[in-house]
Amino acid sequence: MNTADLSYKVTSTEDEDKQTFLQKQGEIPKHIAVIMDGNGRWAKSRGSVRIFGHKAGVDSVRDITEACAQIGVKHLTLYAFSTENWGRPKGEVSALMRLLVQSLRDETRKLDENDIRLVSIGELDRLPPTCRQELEDAKELTAGNSRMTLCLALSYSGRWDICQAVKTISQKVKEGELLPDEISDELISGHLATSGFPDPDLIIRTSGEYRLSNFLLWQSAYSELFVTDIYWPDFRRDELYRAIESYQNRERRFGKVPSRMDVDESSVALH
Ligand code: FPP
Repeated sequence: MNTADLSYKVTSTEDEDKQTFLQKQGEIPKHIAVIMDGNGRWAKSRGSVRIFGHKAGVDSVRDITEACAQIGVKHLTLYAFSTENWGRPKGEVSALMRLLVQSLRDETRKLDENDIRLVSIGELDRLPPTCRQELEDAKELTAGNSRMTLCLALSYSGRWDICQAVKTISQKVKEGELLPDEISDELISGHLATSGFPDPDLIIRTSGEYRLSNFLLWQSAYSELFVTDIYWPDFRRDELYRAIESYQNRERRFGKVPSRMDVDESSVALH
């Protein structure tokens, strides 16, 4: 395959128009994080085994990565394997690990060709050695890229992330490197696995469940949530655009009042 074949192309003028419309209409979220759910149900609804759904899910990963890069998202984080997923049947876990290795082998050159940096968060020591190696190779190859960062959350959970940050911070306090009073929001954020990334602006969850499922618990404090009934293998760029449009129509207040109400109320009588 020659490298020119690997660069992202405009899929259709209609798609290009949708991207341009969203870019003009409002802010494109800098960081989108996705809870990819429903692979098993998608497969079951087709009378097939669960891994068939995970395999089909790789096509959605490819399309969403490409669309995010084209529209100008800077960080895309995908919840690919949670700490809790280790509790699934052995056969499903090993099939998922093989699928990850195969996907990295098949897709890394394309990511690199399109200036996408691959990173990962999670307890990577628990991954099988071939998987770790493939991931390391992909990260190394794409380390210098800057168009978008694709972050795979693997063997990840929000509570694990917070625990490992607390352990590091306590060690620093114990060694006198840090005073307890110096512990702040920013300091904690800087010790999480996502250190250096902006918090997710938008978290998308597929398959209709209204839960965070232990994903980016600290980082999601002010994320906008978008839940769709669509199963992950059917989630493609048009639904992504709907999520972005919904995000653009919301007013993010971060606990404050809307800007148009920003008046001095100290003199207003309460009765
Ligand atoms: C959740 O669906 C999905 C997963 C646990 C795995 C996600 C993996 C992929 C999309 C494929 C590989 C990913 C990459 C990044 C190459 P589920 O199995 O919980 O579905 P269910 O709730 O319907 O059972």
